[in-house]
Amino acid sequence: MRTINVALENRAYPVMVGSGLIGRGELWQRYLARRPVLLVTNDKVGPLYLDQLMAAIGSGSPETIILPDGEAEKTLANWINILHRLVEMKAGRDVCLVALGGGVVGDICGFAAAAYMRGVRYIQVPTTLLAQVDASVGGKTGVNLPSGKNLVGAFHQPSAVFADIDTLKTLDEREYLAGMAEVVKYGAIRDAAFLTFLENHTTALLARDPLAVCSVVEQSIVHKAEVVARDELETGVRASLNFGHSFAHAIETVTAYERYLHGEAVAIGMMMAATLSEQRKLCQPGFTTRLGGLLKRLQLPVTIPPEITADELLGAMRLDKKNVSGRRRLVLLAAP
Ligand code: NAD
Ligand code: GLY
Repeated sequence: MRTINVALENRAYPVMVGSGLIGRGELWQRYLARRPVLLVTNDKVGPLYLDQLMAAIGSGSPETIILPDGEAEKTLANWINILHRLVEMKAGRDVCLVALGGGVVGDICGFAAAAYMRGVRYIQVPTTLLAQVDASVGGKTGVNLPSGKNLVGAFHQPSAVFADIDTLKTLDEREYLAGMAEVVKYGAIRDAAFLTFLENHTTALLARDPLAVCSVVEQSIVHKAEVVARDELETGVRASLNFGHSFAHAIETVTAYERYLHGEAVAIGMMMAATLSEQRKLCQPGFTTRLGGLLKRLQLPVTIPPEITADELLGAMRLDKKNVSGRRRLVLLAAP
C-alpha cells in the first residue's frame, strides 16, 4: 500500500492506494475509531463489495443506504434521503459517512457530509478508475439539477480515501477505458515522463495488469493531490485539470449524455484542445498526433462526430463553469 498525502493544513488527509484495502480491518478501525457510520453505495457496487466492507468495519453494524445506480440518481432527492437517514439515526457531529462506489456515489455522499450539521466527516472508497484518479480526491461534491450537471455542491474534503485497485477487476471495459482518459490528461498537462510511461505500457494497461494499474493510479493521484494542495478552491492552477473538459461537457450536452461516457468525451475534448493549442502555436507541432496515438491505443474516441455542428457546441459551452462574464475560457497546452 502507498499513502499519498493531500497537504491541506488542517484539512489534510491520506489517499491510500493498493490491493485489498477494503478488507483491511485495522485501517478502518484507525479512521473510524468508534464513530457511528453510514455507508452509502448503489445497487451495482453494494452486492459486490458491501459485505467485505462491513466485515472489515466489524462491530457496531453500520447503517447503509443503497441508491439506485446511475448518473440520473445524482439528485437533490437522493441527497435529502441521505440527510433524512442521518436524522433517523440520530447521528451527531461525530458521524462518519463512507462512500463506496464511483464518482456518482462519492459526489452525492460527500455533499451530504458537507451539509449535515454544517459538515461531518466522510471517507471515499472509490471503485471506478475515474473515481480513484480524479473524483474521490479534492473535495468537490455535489448533485445535478434537471438544468445541468453538478450545478449544486460544495467543497468539502474527505477524511481519507481508500483506493482499492482490486475493485477495478469487476469494472466494465468501457468504464475502465473511460477512466484512462483522465489518466492520460495528467501526462498531457503535467508530466511528460508519465505520458511516455503510458505509451510504453498500453498493453499491460489494456490487460489490467495489477502492477501497471497500481502504478498509474498512484502517479495520477500524486498529480491530483499536488494540484489540489496548491489551489483547493480552483482560483487558479486547479482549472488546468479541466484540460479538454470544456469541449467534453459540450459534447456530452449535445449528445444528451447518452452517446459517450464522460472519459470518452474527455478524450475527444483533449484532442480538440490540443489541436487549438497547436493552431495558436502554443505547443509544438505534432503533439496532437502523439496524444491521439495514445488515446487510440487505449481504445478511446479521438474525433468529434461530423453531425455535431460548431454552433451546437459553442451554444453548449455558454454554461461552462470556467466562463467569466459570459466570455469562454479554455485550458490550452504549452507542452506536455
Ligand atoms: P459512476 O459512479 O456512475 O460509475 C460508473 C458505473 O460503474 C456505474 O454503473 C457504477 O455502479 C459502476 N461501478 C462502480 N464501481 C464498480 C466496480 N468496481 N465494479 C463494477 N461496476 C462498478 O461513474 P464514474 O465514472 O465513477 O463517475 C462519474 C461521476 O463523477 C459524474 O457524476 C461526475 O460528475 C463525477 N466526477 C466528480 C469529480 C469530482 O472532482 N468530484 C471528478 C470527476 C467526475
Ligand atoms: N475534476 C477536476 C477537479 O477536481 O478539479
